[in-house]
Amino acid sequence: MGHNIAIDGPAGAGKSTVARKVAGRLGYIYVDTGAMYRAMALFLSRKGIGAEETEKIDKACEEADITIRYENGEQIVLLNGENVNGLIRTEAVSRMASGSSANPNVRARLVRLQQALAAKENVVMDGRDIGTCVLPEAEVKVYLTASVEIRARRRFDELAAKGGTGSLEEIAADIRERDHKDMTREISPLCQADDAVLIDTSHMGIDEAVEAVIALCARD
Ligand code: DC
Repeated sequence: MGHNIAIDGPAGAGKSTVARKVAGRLGYIYVDTGAMYRAMALFLSRKGIGAEETEKIDKACEEADITIRYENGEQIVLLNGENVNGLIRTEAVSRMASGSSANPNVRARLVRLQQALAAKENVVMDGRDIGTCVLPEAEVKVYLTASVEIRARRRFDELAAKGGTGSLEEIAADIRERDHKDMTREISPLCQADDAVLIDTSHMGIDEAVEAVIALCARD
């Protein structure tokens, strides 16, 4: 079993940036599980399947072979052998992933892959159910969060820098809706594990959050 660090939390709390930096500092592998759910969502969308079509998702997901590979420390997601890193960050894929990730069959397939990775490598893994379901024995568990307003502002600034046009209110509404879906789904809903440490990044810079996680690892 590798040494495992689990980082869960809602969208936009800074999980992936913090997890990537912590992994770099410790020489661990960073596993972005959201990217795997996104690759599955892309696969289903390409087949013309909607997020609510449970039976079709159940069947079709069996045909998706999702694996990951590392190049210069970066995670590459392969969907049936195709590198889909450049295709999974769109709003359409985000919406589909939010629906299709609630499907038990989709989760079972991806959780198996995540657990196999953590069994053989030291990993910092981020997602929604890592501390509660994927790696319940992880040595360090963190629940990273921030207020909806702050997360919406960060997303707004990110999109504005890329020339995006969405309003702050629309982005906040979208975040609320995604939080609700992630937190209320039947299987593996997003919640803080009993033994996870809460880190609220609302008024914290990335480096400060990274130091807070590293300090938990040192305590271990
Ligand atoms: O973290 P992200 O936004 O890239 O995740 C994409 C979607 O996948 C999001 O709707 C939540 C879902 N997800 C999940 O259900 N479980 C995980 N471990 C990771 C992500």
